[in-house]
Amino acid sequence: MLKNIVYVQYRIIMINELIDKRYSPRAFSNKMVSKEQLSELFTAASYAASAFNEQPWRFIYATQEQPEKYNQLLNCLNDGNKIWAKKAPVLIVTIAKMRFSKNNKPNNYAIYDLGQAVATMAVQATQLGLYMHQMAGFSVEKAKNNLDIPGGYSVITMIALGNLGEKKDLPDNFQQSENQPRMRNAINEFVKNGTWEQNGI
Ligand SMILES: Cc1cc2nc3c(=O)[nH]c(=O)nc-3n(C[C@H](O)[C@H](O)[C@H](O)COP(=O)(O)O)c2cc1C
Repeated sequence: MLKNIVYVQYRIIMINELIDKRYSPRAFSNKMVSKEQLSELFTAASYAASAFNEQPWRFIYATQEQPEKYNQLLNCLNDGNKIWAKKAPVLIVTIAKMRFSKNNKPNNYAIYDLGQAVATMAVQATQLGLYMHQMAGFSVEKAKNNLDIPGGYSVITMIALGNLGEKKDLPDNFQQSENQPRMRNAINEFVKNGTWEQNGI
């Protein structure tokens, strides 16, 4: 007699093409990102929701056409990121303003809102055929000092941005990781229905 019957529901889930296509590559080509594309990306970021519409996100970018500025940003990265990110034509530092402008009270949502702005930008980047690779592997101290970031602002991530390059141009260990399948937790593992105990949809 069967004691445990597991009903597996097969559902076809349609994910928006841009969300599906986005990923974080390490192989970038030397094709430039234009000023217009950068404007579109930062405009997309500005459309994100934010607590009290504070828009606490700030971005410092530099392109390879600005070697001095670009190297200032590149030098903030850890060696493991620098080795591949140095080919990306644009580097970006993401920053959050940690207090509300209207009353100087702490903004507990500033980093959340910055993340939403970056996620929105990533969708727009995909639309433009561009790719972003976000990074935590960098020195916040170097970024603060080298880029003159004032107090009251937290440096959160850096982003490598550009067009896709050839995986074969990457060092061997990175080629392997680029070919790994994308792993995601099943929604049953992180979605609860009504209370913490009831998993899934
Ligand atoms: C906040 C944050 C920090 C990250 N830091 C790094 C990093 O320092 N180096 C790196 O190679 N990738 C980094 N990543 C990329 C993640 O490893 C990547 O997003 C994750 O493996 C999921 O892959 P996908 O973006 O291709 O879907 C970071 C991503 C985020 C959002």
